[in-house]
Amino acid sequence: MPDGVAALRPSPPTELWCDALALAGHGTLLHRGEHPVWADATLAEQLGCTLSALYDRPFHALDDANSAERLRQQGEACLAGRDAAPVDITTGQPPCAVRHFEVRARRLEDAAGPQVLHVFIERTNAAPTHDPSTRAVLDQIIRELPIAAFILDTEHRVTHWNMACERISGITAPRLIGTRDPWRAFFDAPRPVMADMILDHADADTLERLYPGSWQRSTHTPDAIEAEGFYPSLGESGRWIYFLAAPLRGADGSIIGAIETLQDITERKTAENALALTNERLEAIVADRTRELAEANARLAEDIDQRETAEQELLKRYIELTELNCQLHDAQEQLVQSEKLASIGQLAAGVAHEINNPIGYVLSNITSLGGYLDDLLRLFDSFEALEAGRAPDDPALLAVQKLKQEVDFDFLKEDLPALLRESEEGASRVRKIVADLKDFSHADQTQEWVWANIVKGIESTLNVVNNEVKYKASVARHYAEIPAIQCMPSQLNQVFMNLLVNAAHAIEAPGTITITTSQPDAEHVRVSIADTGCGIPEAVKARIFEPFFTTKGVGKGTGLGLSLSYGIVQNHHGRIDIDSTPGEGTTFHVTLPIQQPDAERTPAAD
Ligand SMILES: Nc1ncnc2c1ncn2[C@@H]1O[C@H](COP(=O)(O)OP(=O)(O)OP(=O)(O)O)[C@@H](O)[C@H]1O
Ligand SMILES: [Mg+2]
Repeated sequence: MPDGVAALRPSPPTELWCDALALAGHGTLLHRGEHPVWADATLAEQLGCTLSALYDRPFHALDDANSAERLRQQGEACLAGRDAAPVDITTGQPPCAVRHFEVRARRLEDAAGPQVLHVFIERTNAAPTHDPSTRAVLDQIIRELPIAAFILDTEHRVTHWNMACERISGITAPRLIGTRDPWRAFFDAPRPVMADMILDHADADTLERLYPGSWQRSTHTPDAIEAEGFYPSLGESGRWIYFLAAPLRGADGSIIGAIETLQDITERKTAENALALTNERLEAIVADRTRELAEANARLAEDIDQRETAEQELLKRYIELTELNCQLHDAQEQLVQSEKLASIGQLAAGVAHEINNPIGYVLSNITSLGGYLDDLLRLFDSFEALEAGRAPDDPALLAVQKLKQEVDFDFLKEDLPALLRESEEGASRVRKIVADLKDFSHADQTQEWVWANIVKGIESTLNVVNNEVKYKASVARHYAEIPAIQCMPSQLNQVFMNLLVNAAHAIEAPGTITITTSQPDAEHVRVSIADTGCGIPEAVKARIFEPFFTTKGVGKGTGLGLSLSYGIVQNHHGRIDIDSTPGEGTTFHVTLPIQQPDAERTPAAD
């Protein structure tokens, strides 16, 4: 054929040559780069159009765009004097007849310039376009491919069974090539293999029946199917194989065969199985451990619960102990205080008793002395009347007058009654102190318990001390409704009196004394006396209940008021508490039981 084309050179083609080419079945086309300047009827028939249509369009106008582009490039290269290799083109579209051509090109020169002659050599029914050597190379590639592969043609005959396939299946190529028995490699009885099903366009049901649960359409290779399975007949003890079967298509897209590749995945599968086994064991171990952990956690939670309960119990005990300790401390303090007071009380009682008698007869003697003195003075008056009747130079009179001057009789007369009065006052005061001491030491325990309204007592006491208070402070009364209490009212009045007088003394005018009554609980009442006075420093506070402790000047305070009050309140089974801030003021709280525990239940006094 190429010789025929070469013979055209250098003259333009003649109808004879064209006829000759047509006779050989080759269409011809001559052009100068655009529309054909010559085309023959054979070509028109080959391209499926009329001859005139061929002349009406560019030389490379083909219905297949790739083919058209190849033809254009070949034509233009040839026209430009470059090498123009033969190109393959396709005409027609499936499902209509598709035809394949090899197009050769040759550059010709005539008077009008260069032109190109294309000869269309039909290859439609020819063997693959590859020349035999190419085919041999392909066969060799497939044969020596490291991946096991075999190929079936459209008749399901084995065309290729490569060496890797021989190794994996143990069946040599000559035994299978040309047969329809590729199943022999894998199965005991005839049945379709994957490649057969590609050729048969097997549906999903058929695939599922033959490869239950182990097949799927390939996500990588179009129209391919993949599957995996265990084949006991392969190798010594069976092999796991992964199959991939795909259609082989001709240039027109039609299926011209099917290729199936096989991959030995036994090792992977063994590893996977081992892994699965290990996983199973691990999961079992983890489950065991989790159970043990859960049990340990439960035990721990129980422990924690127990410990928390124990801690709470401990805390409760600690709080109780702390409270007990505080109570003990209070009790101890009270005990110390009361013991101190009791011993001082005994001392006071002793001293009072010792002083009581002498001061009694001193007072009575002073009273007698007063009477005697009056008598004596009266006697002196009558002596002085006698003196008036005597001669001024009477020696006896002169001696008396001299003696009178010596003893300063006039002053004596004047001073003696004053001395006696002062002595009587002093002795009376001593007697008052002795009485207070006796009260403090409860030497006089004859009083009886009566029910009394203590507000009434406070009010009468206020009247008594009014003189002490009124110049210093105004009195604010906050009286809550409180019940009558069982008490010794005159003793309590002494307590209120001392607290009120102390409050007044503490205040630098003008200030306020606030009296509050309240009922802290069902069994007690409380009287609080607050002042806006100087307050009590801590050091002083520790000592104020001691008898004779006073910060007041000599003659102003005996220091017995609070100790006496303390004794009275204690005798009433009550207590005295102090809130004091130096510079701001002091509050004394007197808390008393409504009913005396050891007194007989007697009706309220008023
Ligand atoms: N309301 C108060 N404000 C400041 N200090 C006070 C108050 N009440 C008592 N005191 C202090 O307590 C001391 C003792 O008081 P207490 O009543 O026992 O004795 P006194 O008042 O000094 O003397 P007496 O009461 O015998 O006349 C007082 O000297 C004073 O220092
Ligand atoms: Mg006082």
